[in-house]
Amino acid sequence: MTLTAPVSTRTDDRWPMRLPEPRGEVSELVIGRLRAGDGIRLEPDVATAATRRSPSLLDDDDVQLALFVLYELHYGGLEAVDDRLEWEPELLAFRGELERAYEAELRGRIPQPHATRDIPEALFALVEAADDGPGLSAWVERDATVDQVREVLVHRSIYTLKEADPHSWAIPRLHGRAKSALVEIQADEYGGGRPERLHAEIFAKTMRVMGLDDRYGAYADHVPALVYASMNLMSMLGLQRRLRGAIVGHLAAFEMTSSIPCRAYANGFRRLGLGDDAADYFDEHVEADAVHEQLAAHDLAGGLVADEPGLADDILFGACACLTVDGRLCGEVRRAFEAGGSALRKALP
Ligand SMILES: [Fe+2]
Ligand SMILES: [Fe+2]
Repeated sequence: MTLTAPVSTRTDDRWPMRLPEPRGEVSELVIGRLRAGDGIRLEPDVATAATRRSPSLLDDDDVQLALFVLYELHYGGLEAVDDRLEWEPELLAFRGELERAYEAELRGRIPQPHATRDIPEALFALVEAADDGPGLSAWVERDATVDQVREVLVHRSIYTLKEADPHSWAIPRLHGRAKSALVEIQADEYGGGRPERLHAEIFAKTMRVMGLDDRYGAYADHVPALVYASMNLMSMLGLQRRLRGAIVGHLAAFEMTSSIPCRAYANGFRRLGLGDDAADYFDEHVEADAVHEQLAAHDLAGGLVADEPGLADDILFGACACLTVDGRLCGEVRRAFEAGGSALRKALP
């Protein structure tokens, strides 16, 4: 079965995303506030209480969805929601409470590595230590069914349909060699001047080839909390200048764990006979990310720490946070597949 991509669809009907269904008290309040305007008040105390009650914010559907929706105001926006709410102090204060708790949980879970050696070397060592055997990409390469491949794309769609955007927040916050390296990476992510080669566009094509809806947030009600935890981590680090070291470390770890898994994904697509259009996104990343990982470790992270040595620990924190959150998500999906099930909250249409 070789599938070819339908003719490229317009991109202007893919955003803004529809408001998702609430998953609890906090997301209900946030979504209600966005929908109803001034009729509902967001009290920061409610956010604080909810995060204190939560046994694990990483897995908390309600808190992660609320945070995601609030961040979305800074990206493509939300259907029927006033764009001016992006800078509404009440929403920012509420989001600040959720962010504080999420960052604290991450810093508590991840033993803070101390940069005692060369940063690129330390990053490569972290990535190697986090590699705990065959992951989701190996499953796709050897065992996945077509339905499981579609599910993997759905999990990835929340980030990948706006691939690279959260790291772009860091561009004006860096200087010199680090800025230049980040822009070089991002220029590739954004297609190098060819809109059809924007990585997000190539991914949208993959979704269409696989019979999936490529509108942003089409599966917002299907994906589990960890998908949002992963996306929110990037937004939280990218949108705060004080965390610029961490977003750089995040990108470095992300790029350093991409090329080899992408080859496995592409092999899996070909094993299933899905064709070049379906595998294009993953093929693109085999070579691109082999280059990006070097740029990210040496020029971006290495360049930043040469400029601002005080950011070294945060670079490693961002890298560890990326490996922890994304590793947990991939593990959860793989375990669900091994058990013959799905990690989605509801079945795909
Ligand atoms: Fe990419
Ligand atoms: Fe990349």
